[in-house]
Amino acid sequence: HRLAVLISGSGTNLQAILDAIEAGQLKARICAVLSNRADAGGLTRAKQAGIPTLTLDHRQFEDRESFDQAMVDALEPYQPDTVVLAGFMRILSPVFVAYYAGRLINIHPSLLPKYRGLNTHARALEAGDERHGCSIHFVTEELDGGPLIAQASVTINANDTADSLSKRVQLCEHQLYPMVLQWRAQQRLVLTDNGVTLDGKPL
Ligand code: GRF
Repeated sequence: HRLAVLISGSGTNLQAILDAIEAGQLKARICAVLSNRADAGGLTRAKQAGIPTLTLDHRQFEDRESFDQAMVDALEPYQPDTVVLAGFMRILSPVFVAYYAGRLINIHPSLLPKYRGLNTHARALEAGDERHGCSIHFVTEELDGGPLIAQASVTINANDTADSLSKRVQLCEHQLYPMVLQWRAQQRLVLTDNGVTLDGKPL
């Protein structure tokens, strides 16, 4: 199973995926890592693992659609089975989302449908929530709104800050993403017209 991973930042989720592959827990390979930022720390992680990297600076493109088409074109030679968004901080247009429909997965640091968008940890604290966590979902044109696949949660402590909370949620992310991708690698996880199925059963 061929994974393309899209990043914008430090790439700790990318690292967790690499580590799971190395450990034999995830039977897939990363065919390419694409970043919209040349300084993304995750590019170094990919290079260290001997994985081809692609950098496409979104600021060099006239509009979202032309950037997205350039990403489709850049990934085409690698023929990914699944495209994994791992801290990729650009909103995707239908040009990309439709091309990879059913093969495009995102991780978001909140218990969706709560807190789509940014600053999720601060917002969960501000709201006085008891629990917070991360969600993995198939990507549709609705931002952070696609069909859910899996969630993991942590208890919010009285002394938590957005920073301490984000660290605990990230540990969940690093467990959950390789697990879900292994379901994909085993061809057990499918997006159908009626929603997400695992082993043919609705999730
Ligand atoms: C993660 O918290 C992810 O949920 C969010 O961006 C962060 C990426 O972190 N969308 P990293 O680059 O994988 O370290």
